[in-house]
Formats: sequence, structure tokens, C-alpha cells
Amino acid sequence: MTNRTFTMIKPDAMKNGHAGAILDRIIKEGYKVKALKMLKLSAEKAGEFYAVHKERPFYGELVDFMSSGPIIAAILEKENAVAAFRELIGATNPAQAAEGTIRKQFATSLGENAIHGSDSDENAKIEGDFMFSGLEQI
Ligand code: RTP
Ligand code: MG
Repeated sequence: MTNRTFTMIKPDAMKNGHAGAILDRIIKEGYKVKALKMLKLSAEKAGEFYAVHKERPFYGELVDFMSSGPIIAAILEKENAVAAFRELIGATNPAQAAEGTIRKQFATSLGENAIHGSDSDENAKIEGDFMFSGLEQI
């Protein structure tokens, strides 16, 4: 599973009509889609997903935002997927994201930054299994 990562197109990008362009970019960058769905997270599920940030001052805002509208979740496969995908999405704060990254192009702000990418192979597996059943993963 070391060549897999997990992503979510966040509510801001969905609302702003960027989902199609983001998926197109991801596929053109050579990622194979291994699972895909649109869903709306409850506040409880969003809180569980980002539980690692529970003690951070932005946690409440993050949970409210991630449960504020639909998202698209996906499992992606490519060589060195986790690190390569973090590079493709760019820095957490779009103001610091490099030219050509997805956050530079589509993110609104530090809090509303268009897209999620797993930060380790271990978390990619945990996050993919959090959002998708075995039957939904090819
Ligand atoms: P993500 O998990 O969503 O891919 O983002 P990331 O790794 O680049 O950033 P992380 O540190 O995991 O933070 C998770 C999300 O919390 C929001 N955040 N807000 N207001 C703030 O200071 C702040 N810091 C982080 C961002 O939406 C970030 O993506
Ligand atoms: Mg993170």
C-alpha cells in the first residue's frame, strides 16, 4: 500500500466549482483512482477524521468547515504517492504554496485550502479505510 495516498476535495473547492478541474489535474499527473465518492461529513465524523488536531486552536473551525458541505474523497495510486501528492497540492497556506500547485490555483485561505493529502503511508491507509469499505476500493 506504500504507493497509495488518500485525498479529499474540500467544501470550498466543491462550492467554487473546482472539483472537475482538480480531478482532471490529478489524473493528468498520473494518479490512478482506486476509490472515489462524494459525501457530506457530519461534524462528528469530521472531528474523528481530524482528531489528531483536537488540541489545536483551529480544531473547531476545521470541523465546522469540513462538515459545511459535500466533499469528494478518493484513494489514489502512483509511485511514491504520499510525498508526490503533497508536492502537487502545495503548502497548507495557499499564500505560501508554490506556483503550479493545486492549492495555489484553487485554495481560498489557510482554513479553506481546497484539498487534503495524507502525510504518511500509515495515515493514507488509516484515512482510506476510514472513508471507504473494502468493497469500494479496487
Ligand atoms: P490536510 O491535512 O487537510 O491535508 O492539511 P495539511 O496536512 O497541509 O495541514 P494540517 O497541519 O494537517 O492541518 C489540517 C488543516 O487544518 C487547517 N488549519 N488551519 N488556522 C490555522 O492556523 C490552521 N492551520 C491548519 C487547514 O485547513 C489544514 O489543511
Ligand atoms: Mg494534514
